[in-house]
Amino acid sequence: MENRDIIKGVIFDLDGVIVHTDEFHYLAWKQLADKIGVYFDRTINERLRGVSRMASLDIILERSDAAFSDTEKQLLADEKNDTYRELLKTLTPADVSADVKSTLAALRQNGLKLAIGSSSKNARFILNQIGLENYFDAISDGNNISKSKPDPEVFLKAAEYLCLKSEQCIVVEDAEAGIQAAKNGGFTAAGIGGASKYNLTDISLNLLSDLLKYV
Ligand code: BG6
Ligand code: MG
Repeated sequence: MENRDIIKGVIFDLDGVIVHTDEFHYLAWKQLADKIGVYFDRTINERLRGVSRMASLDIILERSDAAFSDTEKQLLADEKNDTYRELLKTLTPADVSADVKSTLAALRQNGLKLAIGSSSKNARFILNQIGLENYFDAISDGNNISKSKPDPEVFLKAAEYLCLKSEQCIVVEDAEAGIQAAKNGGFTAAGIGGASKYNLTDISLNLLSDLLKYV
């Protein structure tokens, strides 16, 4: 049987796949790191893709000599989130590329169910900003999971919300942790951006519309 007979749904990561909030994450973490005097650059930032807010902070603090209590870490994470949300307020529907818009529409027209599978607790706020809050059949995000990527929980929940099995869904990701999560959950993993080149990636995408060749 061909892929297109088996696949009934597509689960999209949000940050870095549907919209480029990944740059805002970088800018907000960079501002915090500079403030507390910890070295941080775009290479380190790559490790934060797909990873939860607190796990991201722990990666940044690997380069700090100071010890931070849980309360101090919570305050730092909150400060980063405040900066990040200010940046998110500048997002508009025009920040969704024509490639993303036309691919979502074509998938929907082909009868596929569409979901978001994001580690972010800001996912609904972002979807609202870009005008896609009612577009997806299901949203699984940082608010309905207890384990972050590379654990498959966020994608398994998304599949459950769509009433589909893992084998029936393609997950689209830009993060290594996300590709691992997809494979850990038994999904077909499509990678875009840096994730198009990972060993575990099943489908390499240059553009999101390349997905249409597989469903
Ligand atoms: C993921 C991003 O989508 O969400 C990570 O790739 C981020 O970089 C994570 O840390 C959590 O996001 P938020 O919005 O809950 O801080
Ligand atoms: Mg991402």
